[in-house]
Amino acid sequence: MKPVVLSATGYSVPDHSITNQELVTSFNQYVDLQNQKMRTNQLSGNAENTTIQPPESQKTIKALGPIGPEPIQPLLYSSAEFIKKASGIEHRYVIDKEGILDIQHMRPRIQQRPDHLPSIQCELATKAAIDALARANISHKEVDFLLVASSVTERSYPAMSIEIQHALGIEGFAFDMNAACASATFGIQTALHTIQQGNARTVLMVNPEICSAHVNFKDRDSHFIFGDACTAVVIQAEEYCKSQHPFRILGSQLQTQFSNNIRNNFGILTPLDSANRDSRDKQFMQQGRKVFKEVIPWVSEVVLNHLEKKGIDRKQLKRLWLHQANANMNRLIATKILEREPEFLEAPTILEEFANTSSPGSIIAFHKYHEDLRSKDIGLLCAFGAGYSVGNIILQKL
Ligand code: COA
Repeated sequence: MKPVVLSATGYSVPDHSITNQELVTSFNQYVDLQNQKMRTNQLSGNAENTTIQPPESQKTIKALGPIGPEPIQPLLYSSAEFIKKASGIEHRYVIDKEGILDIQHMRPRIQQRPDHLPSIQCELATKAAIDALARANISHKEVDFLLVASSVTERSYPAMSIEIQHALGIEGFAFDMNAACASATFGIQTALHTIQQGNARTVLMVNPEICSAHVNFKDRDSHFIFGDACTAVVIQAEEYCKSQHPFRILGSQLQTQFSNNIRNNFGILTPLDSANRDSRDKQFMQQGRKVFKEVIPWVSEVVLNHLEKKGIDRKQLKRLWLHQANANMNRLIATKILEREPEFLEAPTILEEFANTSSPGSIIAFHKYHEDLRSKDIGLLCAFGAGYSVGNIILQKL
């Protein structure tokens, strides 16, 4: 089989960013406003007519005490300390900060662009792609296949990848694929096989994610989880590689298992059902605890089976570039794989700055923490998420 390398990576983020404290301050003002409205409705006897329905995830604040004859459920405050402790997140980049923090709006203000202008995903992806191509030391003319691998695309068609291919002046072919947060690893395997079959010499994969578009910023359980970003990865037949820090792909393995625990029902049929068009399930929803419990053992087992199949001892792993959803989850997965607590550099996290960016997460971790590895060092890129889906790519520095 032809040797294939991951030559270089790049990334881009939007200009705006939000700290935990900014997010929590705005969320808590929203909570005060809603609770005040509920209280007023209750006192005026309009409780049954109120349009404010607290999300199921929110429980009664005992401190507020009874607010009238009917038991109602005031919304609860969020806390920056909780967010940092439960997830490791401190900050996130977003396409539009003002709309998210506006308590009358609580979502990014993003207007549809005219068809002759580049889409948002195209803009994010071209920036990341230019970064990756420069690090791979190649021109766009050397790319034969442009792949978009991401959780969302901002329109149905034409494919985002074909627009990005056009914007970068790439010849050959392009298509989009989706394996949620695991998309980048599924994309790397797709690139690997395409190169091994002789259908491309150099593949440019991009992972543009606008997570803030499908987060419910009114939901205390999940308003802090995501940020926006895009990564780009150059994958090449080794003979064409000119980069300074190439990694040979020693193996790839994908696995999926159906679960409703991370779900978003928004789709092509959404506008047709006027009664449910704006219902809660048209944004990101998860059973976070269940995901935590189910995914950790599953991912660890898939990784260990893959290593065994490839004849690689876990002790040989110098670095784990894991999907970045939750710092505690990553620590536990790394501990199961290594059979001991990892040092920071053995399983680096980038959640503090970026939050969960979906498919770019493990690639940003790789991007920031790979240049120090030495020739022949082995690392594992592993991403997991909705589906459930998990992808492992074993990499060895040349
Ligand atoms: N601020 C303050 N308190 C909060 C809060 C917030 N924003 N959100 C929840 N809480 C409270 C809960 O009400 C609960 O209170 P209780 O103990 O009085 O009942 C407590 O904190 C713990 O809530 P829980 O939901 O169990 O937190 P957690 O430790 O499971 O952390 C997640 C929540 C989402 C960070 C975590 O479950 C997770 O990351 N799961 C995996 C998610 C994942 O990987 N998803 C993939 C996405 S691609």
